[in-house]
Amino acid sequence: MHHPDPHSYYDSSQPKARRLRLKLGVDFAAKRLEGEVVLEFGGEVKGALDLDTKGLDIRGVQVPGHGPVPWELGEPDTILGSRLRIDAPEGTREIAITYATSPEAMALQWLDPEQTEGKVAPYLFSQCQQIHARTMVPCQDTPVVRVAYHAEVTVPEGLTAVMSAGPAGDEATRDGRHVFRFLMPQNIPPYLLALAVGRLESRDLSPRARVWAEPETVEAAAWEFAGVEDMILKAEALFGPYPWDRYDMLVLPPSFPYGGMENPRMTFLTPTLLAGDRSLVDVVAHELAHSWTGNLVTNASMEHFWLNEGFTVWAERRILRILHGDDAAALGWAMGQKALEDSLDRFKNEPHLTVLRLHLEGIDPDDAFSSIPYEKGARLVAALEREVGEDKFLRFIRDYIDAFRFTSITTEQFCAFVEAKLPGALAAVNARAYLDQPGMPATAPTFRSAQLDALTALANSWVDGGRPSARQIATWKASELQVFLQKLPRQLTREDCAWLDEHFQLMGRGNYEILVDWLTLAATADYEPAFPRLREVLLRVGRMKYLRPLYGALGQHPRTRALAREIFAAASPGYHGLSRRVVQSVLEAYPA
Ligand code: BES
Ligand code: ZN
Repeated sequence: MHHPDPHSYYDSSQPKARRLRLKLGVDFAAKRLEGEVVLEFGGEVKGALDLDTKGLDIRGVQVPGHGPVPWELGEPDTILGSRLRIDAPEGTREIAITYATSPEAMALQWLDPEQTEGKVAPYLFSQCQQIHARTMVPCQDTPVVRVAYHAEVTVPEGLTAVMSAGPAGDEATRDGRHVFRFLMPQNIPPYLLALAVGRLESRDLSPRARVWAEPETVEAAAWEFAGVEDMILKAEALFGPYPWDRYDMLVLPPSFPYGGMENPRMTFLTPTLLAGDRSLVDVVAHELAHSWTGNLVTNASMEHFWLNEGFTVWAERRILRILHGDDAAALGWAMGQKALEDSLDRFKNEPHLTVLRLHLEGIDPDDAFSSIPYEKGARLVAALEREVGEDKFLRFIRDYIDAFRFTSITTEQFCAFVEAKLPGALAAVNARAYLDQPGMPATAPTFRSAQLDALTALANSWVDGGRPSARQIATWKASELQVFLQKLPRQLTREDCAWLDEHFQLMGRGNYEILVDWLTLAATADYEPAFPRLREVLLRVGRMKYLRPLYGALGQHPRTRALAREIFAAASPGYHGLSRRVVQSVLEAYPA
């Protein structure tokens, strides 16, 4: 018995599934998927086969041509769920399971019409990363098992289904519903399975890219992301031809718990990116970059998550540098530095969660999530790049992607590859300090520009009365204002807040990064004029990146703590299960 992934019951002495054939019936009234999955194996399955499930109602297991076979569901583990052990007769090459999901399935959020833009139809979306695919489909839910898939999704008439796959036709059913077919011919880790169902429309952005959204926002989305083809071209120039055929995007309702999710052929995006000025498209650059780093070359388990995210942050900033120049990239690194410091502070009593090569036996990967694999990881990649030089490093990255395409690898495999291709480079940058030691190495690369230095100096002079000039106020780009806000002292006075709001019109900002940085400062300062806007944002948006700092900042004063508890009581039924958990943990850490 061998379990290569601490978050899966997958046993590497058993065969791997190679393809899934899925049939899903979407039942909004019961908040359930009625499912059937056929797992196709490369070789013969004989005897025990272990799958991951969580909260699934298993109705029957069959081997086609053989009939029902014995199975047993193990004791549920709070993190892993229940092992489904199937006893496969000799000659088994396919296993068919009928099941239903639970209304509490963590991968699925079922939205009432009021939670959508149009307010007339319900909506369903999935989010399987890290280990929630098992709440939607019984499977070997570990990235070391990669599968192609077919799917048939039946939805109420009038709604549209999209998946992380290519469309393969749709038609009305005889019982007045509508079936959508999908085909994902390339193998993907299960966490990239994705489904959304709602009132959806699309707009083409280029021959290979389109954006989907509710009809009410689709035009705004098409405008915001109009530059995506240019981004794909820039990414291809760096990393080689785009390997997934189409690059489509879906703009979700505001409760989507992340900024973006790199579901192949259908990136999922939060509507908070629709700033109206294209100032937040770096998230698209990030999700697009995952097409190479993450989706093509994948972390073998969540213990190696930095291989996905560290490389992707580095790649995202490389793309931005080509599109918008060195200053823009330096500001990106500065915002990342702030996120990194916040995460190091959050984990100051859990230093084992600040290393890149994690050890997560018994630890929920959602609890280990932070900016550390992103930003510490990207700094290790950048250190290697500086060590060997940009051109040589880019050749190395292309070799790396080529060598491991469509596979899932460990940190140890990565290191062996670097050692073979760039001998001595790991030691020269002291890679061990990033991989195995907590905190940040003193030798980590820093990123500066004259513009960033000026913003930092100005923010540091705030306590001595330094203020942005009228010209700066009028001409700063969103990223400059954001960095300035992030570099201000954390504890401002109410007069400071009033000055900032009056001069920068912060309360009405459409750029959520700026709005949330501002509201975090205002909440910390117990600045009452910001309370209505805070309430509005927290009731509307479920993105965890925003909920954590906002609820955290509200913990400073008795009256803001009361406000936070009151807002959470009203907002939590609309939050995604993951977001609800994060906010609960923040509120529990408030002083009594
Ligand atoms: N893959 C992540 C989102 C994710 C991480 C989902 C872990 C579930 C578990 C995605 O690529 C991501 O990193 N999104 C960021 C975007 C940012 C770094 C530009 C986000 O959501 O904020
Ligand atoms: Zn990412």
